Amino acid sequence: MKVGIIGGTGFIGTGMALRLSQNHEVIMGSRKKEKATVSCDACCLTLKELDIPFNLTSSTNQGVVDDSDIIIFSIPAEMLSVTVDSLTGLEGKIVVSLMNPMERGDYFRYAPPEEGSAAQQLQKMLPDSTVVSAFNNIPAKLWNQMSKILDYTVCVCGDDKDGKQIVMELVNSISELKALDAGPLAVSATVEAITPLLINIAKFNKMRDVGVYFR
Ligand SMILES: NC(=O)c1ccc[n+]([C@@H]2O[C@H](COP(=O)([O-])OP(=O)(O)OC[C@H]3O[C@@H](n4cnc5c(N)ncnc54)[C@H](OP(=O)(O)O)[C@@H]3O)[C@@H](O)[C@H]2O)c1
Repeated sequence: MKVGIIGGTGFIGTGMALRLSQNHEVIMGSRKKEKATVSCDACCLTLKELDIPFNLTSSTNQGVVDDSDIIIFSIPAEMLSVTVDSLTGLEGKIVVSLMNPMERGDYFRYAPPEEGSAAQQLQKMLPDSTVVSAFNNIPAKLWNQMSKILDYTVCVCGDDKDGKQIVMELVNSISELKALDAGPLAVSATVEAITPLLINIAKFNKMRDVGVYFR
């Protein structure tokens, strides 16, 4: 299956492209084709230097939608609405949300939309797509550090059994990540809210790369 990343030029998008393209055909997307090309070239160079086989190309965000079976939304949650409105053809596709809406003050606070979570907002905007939430709680920095093993559990939420299964297989294909079925898409609010907690724990305890492992 082809995997496309909307916002593939971002902090987490580039890291996901580096990891996913080792086992999947991946397209990095951007609002600007040239920006996607620059990020893609940098990722390809990194993988070539490490002598790791990969399959990675770039396109616009619309090109990602046109050519991918699984589309990962890796953009700031507050840009979800404007981004979805700019795209066509998401019907019938599996759409993955890793977005965590939050506000920053003295501490980080979960700030969900009225739908309950970013994933539910996305599903409401895309009633004919299969939205699944995953990858919400993995620090972006680790995705990009190719020498590091990604050793976390990943909560996967979704209302469609087959779509959730496909995304769980995608999770399990990356490093040492282990997918866990966390239930329906409504549970994504709980999972998204874990991320500000992790960031607060890291900040107030001077810790790095705080993540979760359920066992
Ligand atoms: N950072 C983490 O550790 C982490 C961990 C787990 C989940 N997440 C979630 O992953 C998502 C992306 O995080 P990130 O840190 O990678 O974000 P980011 O680097 O700030 O942004 C990602 C991409 O979003 C696009 N973008 C930026 N502003 C936009 C706008 N106004 N309209 C449309 N697209 C815009 C940009 O792509 P183009 O300019 O190329 O279009 C950018 O490269 C967030 O929702 C976050 O909650 C992050």
